[in-house]
Amino acid sequence: MTYKIITAPGDGIGPEVTAAAVRVLDRVGEVFGHQFQYEEILVGGASIDGTGVPLTESAITAARSGDAVLFGAVGGSAWDRLTPPLRPEKAILGLRQALGAYINLRPGILFPALREASPLKDELLGRGFDLMVVRELTGGIYFGEKGTRDGKYGPEAYDVEVYSEFEVRRIAQKAFQLAQTRRKKVVSVDKANVLESSRLWRRIVEEVAADFPDVELSHMYVDNAAMQVVRDPGQFDVLLTSNLFGDILSDEISMLTGSIGLLPSASLGSGTTGIYEPIHGSAPDLAGLDKANPIGAILSAAMLLDHSLGLTREAHAIRQAVDATLEAGHQTGDIHRSGVSVHGTSDLASIICRRITN
Ligand code: IPM
Ligand code: MG
Repeated sequence: MTYKIITAPGDGIGPEVTAAAVRVLDRVGEVFGHQFQYEEILVGGASIDGTGVPLTESAITAARSGDAVLFGAVGGSAWDRLTPPLRPEKAILGLRQALGAYINLRPGILFPALREASPLKDELLGRGFDLMVVRELTGGIYFGEKGTRDGKYGPEAYDVEVYSEFEVRRIAQKAFQLAQTRRKKVVSVDKANVLESSRLWRRIVEEVAADFPDVELSHMYVDNAAMQVVRDPGQFDVLLTSNLFGDILSDEISMLTGSIGLLPSASLGSGTTGIYEPIHGSAPDLAGLDKANPIGAILSAAMLLDHSLGLTREAHAIRQAVDATLEAGHQTGDIHRSGVSVHGTSDLASIICRRITN
C-alpha cells in the first residue's frame, strides 16, 4: 500500500532527526512491502526565512492532504525577536489547531538498558516506569485571550486559562479509553485548590469517570504531581493534563528516561491524520553536527504507523529495533552511561535500520 507522509523538518536539529526517521520508515517499507511518499513543508524559522511567516496556508493545505505529518522541531535565536504571531513556535501551534489535534500522547518509558542513565537513584526507579501523559493540546492558556494593557502598576500582560466543559470531556474520554487498554489508572492533574478552570476540569473528569467504572481515577494538584514524578514515577499509568501542565510535566518526565532526546509524541484529532514529533526542541547548538539523538523522532515514526496508518506490527518492529540497539550499547552522546559506543545521528539511524525485521 502507498501512504503519503508530510515531513516538516523545521529548524536546528529538526532536519537531521527527521531525515533519520524517514530512513527508518523507508526501511520498514522495504521489509514489509509498503510505499511511503513524502512531501516536505516549510515550518518555523525555515518558513520565516523562505516566506516571511512561520506557517503558510499552502503548508496547512499540504499537511491536510497527507496521511500524517512527521514534524522535526522549530525555533532558534535568529527568530527570537519577532512579534508573537511571527515566532517559529506559531508553526506547531498553528498546525495543531488547523488539524484539530486536541489529543497529545506522550509516553514516558524507562528503557531497561538506560536505567543507569536516569538521574534518579536506583531505589526510586524501583521496577521502572511506563506511563502516558495525555495532554489537552488546543485549549487552555495557550489559546485563551491574551494581550497587553495599562494596569494599576503601569503596563501589564495577561494570558487567560480557559476550558469549556466540552474540551475537558473529550480529552478525558480519550484518557479513560486509553487507560482501559493499559493498567486502568488515570491520575488527573489540576490546581483545583486555586483555579476556577481547574474546578471545572475536576468536575467534568469525575463525570466522565462514571462511564468507566473499570478505571481507577485519582486527582493530583500539579505541584504535587511535579514532585511525585521524581519521587515514584512507577506509580503512574495515565496522567491526564491541561495544555500547560502537560507541557511542563512531560519535559520533566523525559529527563527521567535518561535524555530528552528519546521521547516521541503523537498529536491527534478526531480523524486519523496526526502530527508526530519528538518532544525535544530544535537544540540550535547541536544543529548540523550529526550529534542529535534521533530516537525521539524514530519512535515518533513508530507512533505514526500505529495511530495514523494502523500498521501496528511495523510500529512494533521499530520499537524492538530501538530496544535492541540500546541493549547492544549503541547510542548518541546525550545519554550518560559507561562502557557503550557513542555514534552520530545518522550512524545510529543506520544501526537501528539494520535491526528492523519482519
Ligand atoms: C512542546 C513544545 C511546544 C509547546 C512549543 C514549541 C510551542 O514545548 O511541544 O512541548 O509548548 O507545546
Ligand atoms: Mg514542551
